Amino acid sequence: MARVLIIGAGGVGGVVAHKCAQVPEVFGHITLASRTLARCEAIRDQIARPIEVAQVDADQPGPVAGLIRKVKADLVIHVALPYQDLAIMDACLDAGVHYLDTANYEPPHEARFSYEHQWPYHERFAKAGLTGILGSGFDPGVTNVFCAYAQKHYFDEIHTVDILDANAGDHGHPFATNFNPEINIREVTAKGRYWEDGAWRETDPLSVKATFDFPEIGPKDMYLLYHEELESLVRHIRGLRRIRFWMTFSQNYLTHLKVLENVGMTRIDPVRFEGRDIVPLQFLKALLPDPASLGPRTRGKTNIGCIFRGTKDGQERSVYIYNVCDHEACYREVRSQAISYTTGVPAMIGGLLIADGTYREPGVWNLEQLDPDPFMDRLNRHGLPWVVTEDIPALPD
Ligand SMILES: NC(=O)c1ccc[n+]([C@@H]2O[C@H](COP(=O)([O-])OP(=O)(O)OC[C@H]3O[C@@H](n4cnc5c(N)ncnc54)[C@H](OP(=O)(O)O)[C@@H]3O)[C@@H](O)[C@H]2O)c1
Repeated sequence: MARVLIIGAGGVGGVVAHKCAQVPEVFGHITLASRTLARCEAIRDQIARPIEVAQVDADQPGPVAGLIRKVKADLVIHVALPYQDLAIMDACLDAGVHYLDTANYEPPHEARFSYEHQWPYHERFAKAGLTGILGSGFDPGVTNVFCAYAQKHYFDEIHTVDILDANAGDHGHPFATNFNPEINIREVTAKGRYWEDGAWRETDPLSVKATFDFPEIGPKDMYLLYHEELESLVRHIRGLRRIRFWMTFSQNYLTHLKVLENVGMTRIDPVRFEGRDIVPLQFLKALLPDPASLGPRTRGKTNIGCIFRGTKDGQERSVYIYNVCDHEACYREVRSQAISYTTGVPAMIGGLLIADGTYREPGVWNLEQLDPDPFMDRLNRHGLPWVVTEDIPALPD
């Protein structure tokens, strides 16, 4: 049985703690640590099984390595913020434990995320005999596993991939983000980017729009975005000619975002205000609803999946793999809305597959580099069942 240290007690951390607690045969001991101890205690008090809590500043490798040793963890599931990725990877190397996260490193003062900071850890993890799994949420995460599964079972060559992320949830607030507002707004206001014929193509933020008829949700407007799994998938999918990522947004969300952007509230550079420096986006985060508080208010469903086109045995083929998740059902199970749930469940599954020895290849990996079958099996067993269909609604060319 493994001893797991979960770092980050936000919306996702709460789900990971609940879901690890549901698998006592693998996670024999659980510690939940975060910057604010009270948030860990609030989650601990929701869970019937005893779990340990601790305060830690994960920006520093030293205290994290100290905590890993103190609680004798075998594995860290990092669901704090992307800014802490490198410090926690360093701490895992120092203390000699396995590592998993859900979002790639992003320098705090530059809205540009990339695996270029974490892939260089591969040699050091490999040499230490440790496994590091990058991006084990839903997207990245399950979308990478869907790609590996399609490649393994349905295609000789995948020519195009479209990743479609729809949230038809309604939380009743005029404006709120479903996960950390700072990370979410930095992602959405960045330039769009997709990959075609061996080159990246850039688009203005939210300038490419299409409508798609999502199963169990209905037609929604979706926008082309750059998303982090594209960076690894272009390296690992055979025969790929184009890959794009789409996310749905309501007109209301976009109008609020535009106004906030126009008045400078999404800026990430410090602004002098009444004798001190403040970062407008961080101040905005303090004003917006905490994503962890949206659970009891959110109704509706998410649908996230991938559409593949390619060839099998010389024949053209199209396949769509997706999951539908119900916000209210998630809240009933783990006191969280579906965005935190769809991230936290795959984080627990990735951790479980390291803990039980299924994923133990030394080194640092993206999920499409590992066998997708055990992960797909666990998705069905732990609350995120998936559908494979060749009956696919129309998609723009
Ligand atoms: N791959 C995916 O599909 C996907 C989807 C959604 C989110 N994510 C990722 O999941 C992660 C968590 O998201 P979330 O919505 O749960 O965010 P959140 O609600 O803001 O929670 C983040 C937690 O991390 C803690 N934290 C921040 N800085 C810390 C530090 N220096 N040391 C220790 N703890 C620290 C925060 O502590 P305080 O409570 O003190 O602020 C907070 O409890 C993010 O990295 C996000 O990008 C991935």
